[in-house]
Amino acid sequence: MRTRRVHLKQRPRGLARPGDFEVVEVELPPLQAGQVLVQNLWMSIDPYMRRSMEAEATDLEPWPLGAALDGPSVGRVLESRHPAFRAGDVVESMSGWQEHFVSDGQPFVPYLSPSHSLAVRASAGAEPRDYVGLLGIAALTAYGGMACLARVSAGDTVVVSSAAGTVGSIACQIAKLRGARVVGSAGSPDKVRWLRSVVGIDHAFDYREVVLRDELRAACPGGIDVVLENATPEHLSACLPRMKELGQVLIAGFVGTYSDRGSMRIENFEYVLDRFLTIRSYRIMDFLDRYDEFVRDMLAWRAEGRMTLQETIYEGLEQAPAALCALFTGGRIGKTLVRLA
Ligand SMILES: NC(=O)c1ccc[n+]([C@@H]2O[C@H](COP(=O)([O-])OP(=O)(O)OC[C@H]3O[C@@H](n4cnc5c(N)ncnc54)[C@H](OP(=O)(O)O)[C@@H]3O)[C@@H](O)[C@H]2O)c1
Repeated sequence: MRTRRVHLKQRPRGLARPGDFEVVEVELPPLQAGQVLVQNLWMSIDPYMRRSMEAEATDLEPWPLGAALDGPSVGRVLESRHPAFRAGDVVESMSGWQEHFVSDGQPFVPYLSPSHSLAVRASAGAEPRDYVGLLGIAALTAYGGMACLARVSAGDTVVVSSAAGTVGSIACQIAKLRGARVVGSAGSPDKVRWLRSVVGIDHAFDYREVVLRDELRAACPGGIDVVLENATPEHLSACLPRMKELGQVLIAGFVGTYSDRGSMRIENFEYVLDRFLTIRSYRIMDFLDRYDEFVRDMLAWRAEGRMTLQETIYEGLEQAPAALCALFTGGRIGKTLVRLA
């Protein structure tokens, strides 16, 4: 059987461009005993993928040139010669960037697994695309940060950057559920309006239009208890002088540095010492044992109308490169997905 997949043609300098990728047609091997044929339905587009495009990354396997790529996806089993899977099963994998693939059915662990590992996903109330959206890696990152790590009490002030992105918007909603006063920064007037009117946070601002330090002083007059940093060292640097004593800084990532690794500089570090702050970066592997609880909470909150995830959908595998490039030029609210079938 023939299928299509995306290869990396060249490694970008600075912003990635669709021309750094190519769509190729390949022949899949015939299905052997113990194997599963999967058709991908949806794939996730995530900021870390820009770092996978580099020849070297400190914590990621670089994407190869001219070969299959990996990334979160959800698909349907078309044919199974494996006892643990049946035709029609919805399966999550790290085998994005391709329309079909053959798997030996190894157990799936996000990020850590070989790309063709699989997990059957069948939670009541979930659509296939939820496993790369509301129940996907970025959502688990928000949950891990705001529901598991953050010490948030009612009335606390929480600041979230890239607040209109996936991690950011879900983290804002979890902080609101915990009774916090939530301040979010984002990169356009539309995102600010959406954060105020749909996500319902207490204060949102466009970081391109303000002096960060002044805006944070005005927005958090009593200081900040918790920061969830998704965006840039510059944003975190502006938060540090506003932190309360014993405040907590959680770093999910610095999306603003992924196209330019030269810009990693944190200022105002003296406040970490003077205010006895905790700073922790983290990743979803830290919360895999909370996965069932995460799924239960996210689906319950959505059913109660207390959790929403906006999605930007690109149609077809050939749009996947453009979808990834667009992550770094702003404009898209919430989760970016590609519909593959
Ligand atoms: N630790 C983990 O295991 C883990 C897992 C998933 C994600 N993450 C991290 O969490 C953060 C958010 O990820 P996500 O999945 O929520 O991303 P997302 O939904 O794709 O949102 C990305 C947002 O980042 C902002 N952005 C892009 N380029 C930027 C730049 N140069 N400067 C400042 N902001 C920029 C844009 O928002 P604006 O227009 O508002 O700037 C964009 O909408 C990232 O740092 C990511 O690496 C970590």
